[in-house]
Amino acid sequence: MSLLPAFVILTVAFLLLGAVATARGQTLPSQTGTVILNGDSLASFTLEGRQLEIARSEIVDVSGQAFKKALRITTGPGALSEWNVQLTAMTDAPIHASDVLLARFWMRCTESMTGEGFIGFIYELAHPEFDKAAEVRLAAGEKWRECSVRFRAPRDFPAGEARVCLRIGYDRQTIEIGGMQITDYGKSVKLEDLPRTNVTYSGRGSESAWRREALARIEKIRKGDLTVVVTDSAGKPVDNATVHVTLKRHAFGFGSCVTTDLLLDPSPDGQKYRATIEKYFNRAVFENDMKWQAVYAGISPKLDQALAWLLDRNIEVRGHNLFWPGWKWLPPQLRQIEGNPDELRRVSAEHATSVVSHFKGKLPQWDVVNEPYTNHDLLDLLGGNRIMVDWFKLAHEADPECRLFLNDYGILEGGPDGAHSKSFYETIEFLKENGAPIGGVGIQSHFAAALPSPRQLLQTLDKFSEFGLPIELTELSLNLDDRDLQADYMRDFMIAAFSHPNVNGVMLWGFWEKRHWRPQGALFATDWTIRPHGRAWIDLVMRQWQTDDQSLTNAKGSTTTRGFLGTYEITVSAGAKSKKLSAKLAREGITVKVTLD
Ligand code: XIL
Repeated sequence: MSLLPAFVILTVAFLLLGAVATARGQTLPSQTGTVILNGDSLASFTLEGRQLEIARSEIVDVSGQAFKKALRITTGPGALSEWNVQLTAMTDAPIHASDVLLARFWMRCTESMTGEGFIGFIYELAHPEFDKAAEVRLAAGEKWRECSVRFRAPRDFPAGEARVCLRIGYDRQTIEIGGMQITDYGKSVKLEDLPRTNVTYSGRGSESAWRREALARIEKIRKGDLTVVVTDSAGKPVDNATVHVTLKRHAFGFGSCVTTDLLLDPSPDGQKYRATIEKYFNRAVFENDMKWQAVYAGISPKLDQALAWLLDRNIEVRGHNLFWPGWKWLPPQLRQIEGNPDELRRVSAEHATSVVSHFKGKLPQWDVVNEPYTNHDLLDLLGGNRIMVDWFKLAHEADPECRLFLNDYGILEGGPDGAHSKSFYETIEFLKENGAPIGGVGIQSHFAAALPSPRQLLQTLDKFSEFGLPIELTELSLNLDDRDLQADYMRDFMIAAFSHPNVNGVMLWGFWEKRHWRPQGALFATDWTIRPHGRAWIDLVMRQWQTDDQSLTNAKGSTTTRGFLGTYEITVSAGAKSKKLSAKLAREGITVKVTLD
């Protein structure tokens, strides 16, 4: 045997190692874990879901890769959601809470409309509530892509009760998956030391049709014609007058949750916090200060003071929330009357009436009930959903002008057919049918690595528009550490939201890292430097969706600007004369007559 083949083998091995190391930037740990799913076990995957008729799966040969076989899945047109077609395989070794795991596999897309194909990788309990340990979306083009998904088990997964699930209900794609291996490293490896493939979402590409359509819709529904007609004191048209129109206040709500302590904090951070709110937001909501636990012993004068600061600046404030009916979020004192439903009913009614009355006329919206799907202890104690109708009625009596909401999470995240969405839909139906004065649908919008496509966001919004109630996106947070992805998703989420005719506002769930429930989701870092997704947000809200236009009147004394809806400052000047006024632009347009005298 000559030396050459050994040299070639070593070189190839070296090159491969090098390629792997640079492609992932990280190598595999030296520790050996327990393999809970082996790459050769392709046959253990079964195809399931509600739209199996549009999918076909087969095992195909592969050459030139470390694995010899792959699963090829072809999804035809008409997929309604990605989980309507999925491949699942049970894993049979037990996983313990806090174990660190790594799933590795290869995928490629041999055919699709864009050249890119998607899968959703999920590791979950194989029975309700389908608790998840991992949930990410990944994309690949025509070349094999090595994918690594690292995750930590949030709970025990007993042997034979957990599964890997690949969601593949994406329109018209053929993807191949091979070499899958899932390893449980127990507690011997740090999550951060494992490789990870960047996640993405469908519809991210710059040429995406959904975005083109959405931007066209925005032009149509979020703008109106603002005509200014200028005459002199004799009523004659003034031509060549300069008309400057500036949008001062958007009709659409752009806001964030805020906290009393920072609103009143005299430190430089407090000042920066307030300046940021004034600069960027026309809406706000208190993160915790109006919740039952916070107001149980009485409404703090500081909250009133912080609220006054916001209202003085013309910042609209939502009430959040009257009832978050899980023990975790209820005043612990209620435990003492747990066995006395009459007393519980009385105390909860008194709470609704007193809190809503206290803020009467100041809050145009209240979240009356928050998250009843997962937090229902108080509902159970009071005989079920009916009590919510009473709470809505009491809130309405206390402030008839206030728009009352049911608010929940998992709606956009899980899509229109998810279990959470179904329950939310049925609860709204129930409230309406039983005469609850519900005036709006509150959809929270907390996202992590499983990012629904903007098309799917729009589908979910369509579904919840069926009630004829306005929608507020009440708690946007993007808990992602891939800053490019975070920025792109912020842009696309905001475009989708602003383009939907039934959505009236988007509230961020915090904007500053030091005061954010998912700090990596904050627009501004601790030292107030702006993150890329903060820039994406500001670019849309403060630049692209702003109107600041100057023009000259024609021979009829008139000039028209197509501008975003809201309140304008209009300055008209001709020669030495000038006038400033304010006007509100609605979708049907307005004509403002100005006499220069
Ligand atoms: C969160 C706050 O951000 C945290 O500070 C607090 O500890 C718990 O509540 N859904 C909601 C919000 O409706 O009220 C929650 O706010 C986040 C999830």
